[in-house]
Amino acid sequence: MIVHDEKTLFEKIGGMYAVDAAVEIFYAKVLADDRISHFFRWTHMKTQAAKQKAFLAYAFGAPLKYSGKNMRDAHANLLEMGLNDSHFDAVLEHLFSTLQDLDVSEDLILEVGKIAESTRKHVLGL
Ligand code: HEM
Repeated sequence: MIVHDEKTLFEKIGGMYAVDAAVEIFYAKVLADDRISHFFRWTHMKTQAAKQKAFLAYAFGAPLKYSGKNMRDAHANLLEMGLNDSHFDAVLEHLFSTLQDLDVSEDLILEVGKIAESTRKHVLGL
C-alpha cells in the first residue's frame, strides 16, 4: 500500500489547539521582551491574539480565510515607530522558541519559518 503524506502543515503541528497554545506562549514571550514590547503598548491584546491565531492558522494551511488587514497596512504605524529587521528577527526568535517549547519537530519549525519569512518584506513595508 502506498501511503501519501498529504497533511497540511497546520494538521501536522496539531491543528487549532496547537495554534491556540502557540499564540498564548508566543505573546507572553513578546511582551516580556524589552526590544519589542513597546510596539504592543497600545494594542488590545485579546483582539490581537485572536487575529494572530486566525492568521497563523491560515498561514499553516488551515481551511479558514484570513480576512483582516494585509500585512503592509497592519504594520504601517509601527514603521513610523522605527520597526526594522532586528525587531522582525526578535519576533521570529520567539516564534521558534514557542514551537520548541511545544515539542514541534525541527523540520516543521523550518516550514513555519519559511512562511513567516515570506511576510518580512510586507511587514517591513519593503
Ligand atoms: C511573521 C511576521 C508577522 C506576522 C505574520 C504578523 C501578523 C499580524 C496580524 C495578522 C496582525 C493583525 C492585523 C489586523 O488588524 O487585521 C498584526 C498586527 C500587529 N503586529 Fe504583526 N505580524 C508580524 C510581525 C510583527 C512584528 C515584527 C511586530 C513588532 C515587533 C508586530 C507587531 C504588531 C502590532 C503592534 C500589531 C497591532 C497593530 C494595531 O494595533 O493596529 N508584528 N500582525
